[in-house]
Amino acid sequence: MRRDRPTGHPNAEPRMAGRPSGRLATTIFAAALACAVVSLAASGIARADDAPADAKPYVVQNGRVDHHVFNGYRRYGDNCLRCHGPDGAGSSYAPALVDSLKHMTKEQFEDTVINGRVDVNTANQNVMPPFGLNPDVVENLDDIYGYLKARSDGVLGRGRPKKIGDDDDN
Ligand code: HEC
Repeated sequence: MRRDRPTGHPNAEPRMAGRPSGRLATTIFAAALACAVVSLAASGIARADDAPADAKPYVVQNGRVDHHVFNGYRRYGDNCLRCHGPDGAGSSYAPALVDSLKHMTKEQFEDTVINGRVDVNTANQNVMPPFGLNPDVVENLDDIYGYLKARSDGVLGRGRPKKIGDDDDN
């Protein structure tokens, strides 16, 4: 029994004939859309490259931090500390991010935090959860990175950082 012929109204046949060009138009539209997305992405990369290559992703002066680094410290405490330990120093469960950032690029860091990771090469089943749907992390990822990079570079000690301009007893 043949099931591949359209059933129903006899007019179904002629209308079908018009479809391929519709599909072509859809393909062209999709291609144009893809080009637009690619050029958008490219302009985003170009903008990020405007910063000098040696610019630090944080502001720390005499061990004191600006509000971005302080915000990163707080968000780290809220979202990462329970596994990665205080001050990015690591725990028995998760690696010391202070060490990780000595060899990871910012892109690798962001990719790991957004998408998460399971280490399939080790016997343990420790999991880095994906944070891509967590706005508290995603919207503050630059600040979290800046805080951890300052710790990793050794310009910021352990504990709650003091803010630039605050009194000493603050
Ligand atoms: C539930 C525990 C848990 C939480 C919460 C967590 N992580 Fe992780 N993370 C891990 C584990 C475990 C690994 C190691 C995974 C592996 O090697 O496969 C890891 C790996 C990483 C790595 C890769 C380190 C390397 O040396 O390769 C980065 C970067 C990272 N985490 C950043 C973060 C940040 C930033 C946060 C907070 C936004 C966070 N993690 C929150 C458990 C966690």
